[in-house]
Amino acid sequence: MSVVTHRSESIWTHKAKETTFPQLKENITVDVAIVGAGITGLSTASYLMNRGLKVAIVEANHVGYGVSGFNSGHLTSMLLDMKYSSIHHDFGTEKTQLVGQCQVDAINMIEANIRQYGMDCEFKRIPGFLYAEQPDQVKALEKEFNATQQANVPCELIDHAPLPFNTHKAILLPEQARFHPLKYVQGLAQAVAAQDELLFENTHVVGIDQGEQCVVKTRSGTITANKVVLGTHTPIGLWPSIQTRLEPIRSYIIGVRVNDIIADGLYWDMDEPYHYMRLTEDENGPLLIIGGEDHKTGEKEDTATCFKGLEEYAHRHYDVRSIDYHWSAQLYDPVDGLPYIGPTQAAPNVYIATGFTGEGLTGGTYAGKIIADAILGVDNAWAAVYRPDRVKPLASAAGFISENVGTVAHFVGDRLKPSEAQTEAEIPAGKGCILMKEGKKVAAYKDESGKVHLMSPVCTHMGCHVNWNNAEKSWDCPCHGGRYDATGHVIDGPPVKNLDKIEG
Ligand code: FES
Repeated sequence: MSVVTHRSESIWTHKAKETTFPQLKENITVDVAIVGAGITGLSTASYLMNRGLKVAIVEANHVGYGVSGFNSGHLTSMLLDMKYSSIHHDFGTEKTQLVGQCQVDAINMIEANIRQYGMDCEFKRIPGFLYAEQPDQVKALEKEFNATQQANVPCELIDHAPLPFNTHKAILLPEQARFHPLKYVQGLAQAVAAQDELLFENTHVVGIDQGEQCVVKTRSGTITANKVVLGTHTPIGLWPSIQTRLEPIRSYIIGVRVNDIIADGLYWDMDEPYHYMRLTEDENGPLLIIGGEDHKTGEKEDTATCFKGLEEYAHRHYDVRSIDYHWSAQLYDPVDGLPYIGPTQAAPNVYIATGFTGEGLTGGTYAGKIIADAILGVDNAWAAVYRPDRVKPLASAAGFISENVGTVAHFVGDRLKPSEAQTEAEIPAGKGCILMKEGKKVAAYKDESGKVHLMSPVCTHMGCHVNWNNAEKSWDCPCHGGRYDATGHVIDGPPVKNLDKIEG
């Protein structure tokens, strides 16, 4: 019988200390301003600074605490969410090979950075296995094997994945890697901050003026720069042409102690949504990370069931001793399957990088190279593949329509939904819900002391209504993935303004 000792924190934040960079408290001028100290922003910064540019980086929280510290630390040349077969179908052989090259090279770039900066971040080359657990998944797996070969990504078809349960055929990918993603971005942060000491934490961007010179405005100072890079996972502020082509997804992860012996590797099944697994360790010994149960942000009524689903999966497949960690992550799926990286026509001096699906660690790394090359005027064969203003009707149409129908449905439907409680007294401690107050909907959160915090449920990005996420105690917006903490402060996504407070 297993012991469930839920700890709602990522193993990466548990094993690393927060960085302590200063807050921006003045107005400064640099060559390039980067918003977001995660893997995209810091990869871009390291390339630019190595070429002599003066770069300032601002982070709303601590380094890596937006997204980079909350994934599973897989580094793979495989495409798992969109698959090489569909990229090949929609974009052709040449572009698929460039995509495959990006995935392979990104792992090499990360390894090179680790060597160059002498980082200790648990990096290890290991094989990866995409496997069919059910016989009726073998055909799709073989199709994926052919597409992966066409992408020039090294792989081999084998009979079984080395797991303690039965599998039918697997694609073996050599030279994949695992690492501690938070320690890696912290190492990059130390390296880039060592140069000009222009990395600022706890610095919230409230707006960006675009033009020949751009001004990044924060609550405590401004940065004037020739170029701005939004390394914020999804662009903050209003970018309707991009945000309507992205689907925000939440994914769930648990850290499990098992009695089984598992070969060190990255593992992905062919379920929909798929499960992903890898080994790591903490002060109590080896730990198996299992992720999955993905769903569109803000659309699941009871998000705690996602952790339950993962726990049941763990018990079905392993001899579980205890489940010691659980956390969740956000990702963005682009409608045509490829990330959007570079400047847009509307804002030629602002560079975005988003839509990495579940491959944000490799995506953020090659995005850094593409953006840095564009700013430096260096030719980069990958840039055209990921141009944000590309038009690819074959691949985009269905996803664009379904994503926008979903957004409109939320904009209207969430306003008409019945409230979840009639009075504040009905709300249990530690929970949030939407209730009616004086004829208007309000988002109400009752903290553990019994104090009720009232906020407008209207997302400050583009006006959709937020929903309560009971697993993470957050307010999540289903339209473009904006997320706020229990008392309405922005934690993720496009919004830059907190939810409006309502006096009780
Ligand atoms: Fe766009 Fe909420 S994130 S409306």
